[in-house]
Amino acid sequence: MSTINTRYLGLNLSSPVIAGSSNFTSKVESIVEAEAAGAGAVVLKSLFEEQIVSMAHSMAAKESYPEADDYLHYYTRTNSVETYLDLVAKARRSVKIPVIASINCFSPKGWIDFAVEIEKAGASALEVNIFFIPVDKHQSSNDSEAVYFKIIDNLRKKLTIPVSVKIGLRFSNLLNFTWQMYSHGASGIVMFNRFYEPDFDINNLNVVPASVLSNPVEQRYVLRWVGMVSAQDMKMDISASTGVYTGEDAIKYLLAGATTVQVCSALYKRGFTVITEINEAIHRWMDGKEFKSLDDFRGRLNYRNIENPSLFERSQFMKHYSSYI
Ligand SMILES: Cc1cc2nc3c(=O)[nH]c(=O)nc-3n(C[C@H](O)[C@H](O)[C@H](O)COP(=O)(O)O)c2cc1C
Repeated sequence: MSTINTRYLGLNLSSPVIAGSSNFTSKVESIVEAEAAGAGAVVLKSLFEEQIVSMAHSMAAKESYPEADDYLHYYTRTNSVETYLDLVAKARRSVKIPVIASINCFSPKGWIDFAVEIEKAGASALEVNIFFIPVDKHQSSNDSEAVYFKIIDNLRKKLTIPVSVKIGLRFSNLLNFTWQMYSHGASGIVMFNRFYEPDFDINNLNVVPASVLSNPVEQRYVLRWVGMVSAQDMKMDISASTGVYTGEDAIKYLLAGATTVQVCSALYKRGFTVITEINEAIHRWMDGKEFKSLDDFRGRLNYRNIENPSLFERSQFMKHYSSYI
């Protein structure tokens, strides 16, 4: 019988399937459900840098001019941050699986000290979802990427728990970028976030949000990069996040070299049972192939291990399109 336990960010997981950050991981009851369904870990809903910074400002204003602060406003902001610490602590007490906290951020200062509070509350690790849109044409790619590295440096100085970084899909040279993240001390990389995308409503001439849930097809854009990043000489775990709906999807990412996979949209469409189904399907497939552990096949189809690595490259693109009739 196969076993699907794994190590991720130095933590022991009973399954490589993680309930990814979303509203499904913002309450203790649903985190308990995720564990019961067989999730190897949960990543909590993100707290936003803006929430932390606004709390810090409110507290500073209250200290210098107590009467100038609107108490209710202050309370609401503070409460969201305190509620988060409470969620971390309660989740840790309620489940045995690792509880990974998450902060959505865009700058390397103003909120970093707060990460220490998250560690003290008992988080097993911290996932930082770094998201900013470069809107200044004078800012170079190097300048933008330096923000990521500074965030990792600052967190590494303050925290003892592992830090993983969730990034978007588009960088000029993802291999160099991820290697630099590794050199700065990231323990893991989450590939990838699915950012808010604007869409156009041509009838009402409005900008509207595009669908927030992924489509399984989007997995194809991610598979190549998991396969290429995992083939590099870096001891940095990869968690694949995008388009995991079935056991087959999870197996593909593991074959590409992912340490874990995260499910999110599938939870919205099918509930937590999808995690149980994915675990069962991985077991069935492993038993059929006589694989005993995930290490028996993890990375088997990555850029380093396949016979013809050009299948990941430009030459394949030329062949593919010129032979298509
Ligand atoms: C409703 C919803 C809320 C989400 N909230 C967060 C969040 O708070 N923090 C975060 O890092 N990612 C968040 N995500 C992104 C997911 O964790 C995940 O990375 C993304 O949806 C791609 O995975 P999927 O194809 O399984 O949905 C959210 C996604 C959805 C659909």
